Amino acid sequence: MRQPFIASFAISLLTLPVLAQGLPTPQEAERYRLPTTPTTAENIARSKKVELGYELFFDARLSGNESISCASCHLPTKGWSTNGRPKRANDTVMPRASQTVLGMGHTSNEKRGWGANRESAVVLMKAVISEAGPMNVKPPELVAKLNDVPAYKALFHTVYGRDGDMDAVIDALDIFMKSIEYPKTRFDHWIAGNPLALTDAEVKGFRTFTGETANCTTCHGGPRFTQDAMHDIGLKVDAAKPDKGLGDVTKKAEDDFAFKTPTLRSAAQRAPYGHDGQVASLDALVEHYMKGGEARPTLSFEIQRFSLTAEEKSNLVAFLQSLDPATQEFLPPLKIAKVAAERP
Ligand code: HEC
Ligand code: HEC
Repeated sequence: MRQPFIASFAISLLTLPVLAQGLPTPQEAERYRLPTTPTTAENIARSKKVELGYELFFDARLSGNESISCASCHLPTKGWSTNGRPKRANDTVMPRASQTVLGMGHTSNEKRGWGANRESAVVLMKAVISEAGPMNVKPPELVAKLNDVPAYKALFHTVYGRDGDMDAVIDALDIFMKSIEYPKTRFDHWIAGNPLALTDAEVKGFRTFTGETANCTTCHGGPRFTQDAMHDIGLKVDAAKPDKGLGDVTKKAEDDFAFKTPTLRSAAQRAPYGHDGQVASLDALVEHYMKGGEARPTLSFEIQRFSLTAEEKSNLVAFLQSLDPATQEFLPPLKIAKVAAERP
């Protein structure tokens, strides 16, 4: 008599949440499973080159007046970005929001910047660490300053067999950027088969996200939640100073207002949204998509007006929020970097 009782008790415990919330279908599990990768912390511990890039990324010495580091605009706790348009070392505000550098090693589009305006990450970083760039720094002075720090000098010798120079600085940063991995989220635990990892509302929101009405996955499908493609999603354009994105690079009218599709992982930490931070919240962004964006010839044909009930809309937002790691990854302590003071 005891055995069946225990068995049925166990089954009801297991099946109740399954019935309430559902598991991913085999197709969903297949399509949305993140590749198994080490965590960022493991990557930093594993290689001296990554460790050097990690120290440099957080070091305020990289800006002329030592007020900001790369991390000031690409904060791990803000989805490797910032909230709103960031300030350069000279206190002026940048025209575009910081882009996330999360999962950079996995992107298929080597061109960088919201408008694919830089040929590669290396080209972009050279522009950033310059007198005209946001760091406001003279590279020869920076290199001399780094070599004056014995721990840096020793690390440059261990990794590159020579004193630090700009090529070494950029190379180490580039390798570090590629080691910034997607932290596991509750969504990933759900995809891996834990039915309790997501709430009922979040599961429904995922189905709205992948459904034909909202059509989000044409551009944000797969485990990285981006295909890295360039699109015009019909955001407002500043008539006085239009940022034409890809169009400014290719000079082709059909490319106007196309920007790179960002990953949605950790997006909940990165409000406001869009390349210039013009959309205040996830809620407002979903409303933008529902209205279908500003009508203009370059508007992607995938962006079309649709309607959701208030509940479907709030479920969709709940799902987007579930792509946020519940706990922050504990990065190793910095040993050399002069960490920049937090800016208001
Ligand atoms: C003052 C803020 C600021 C600082 C400091 C800064 N960035 Fe950025 N970063 C941005 C902005 C804004 C963009 C988007 C640029 C664009 O669209 O042209 C960006 C874009 C990037 C990208 C492109 C991401 C992609 O997927 O296309 C990389 C890589 C990057 N930054 C790395 C760095 C590194 C490395 C440093 C330090 C040397 C750094 N950034 C310092 C604001 C900053
Ligand atoms: C036609 C392709 C396309 C479709 C369809 C699309 N998006 Fe996007 N999404 C983009 C692009 C491109 C951007 C960046 C636009 C910009 O900054 O100008 C973006 C930005 C975002 C962002 C901001 C992320 C960040 O870190 O700043 C979120 C969130 C988002 N989309 C969610 C959605 C949702 C939810 C749907 C479905 C309702 C959707 N998208 C449909 C292409 C698309």
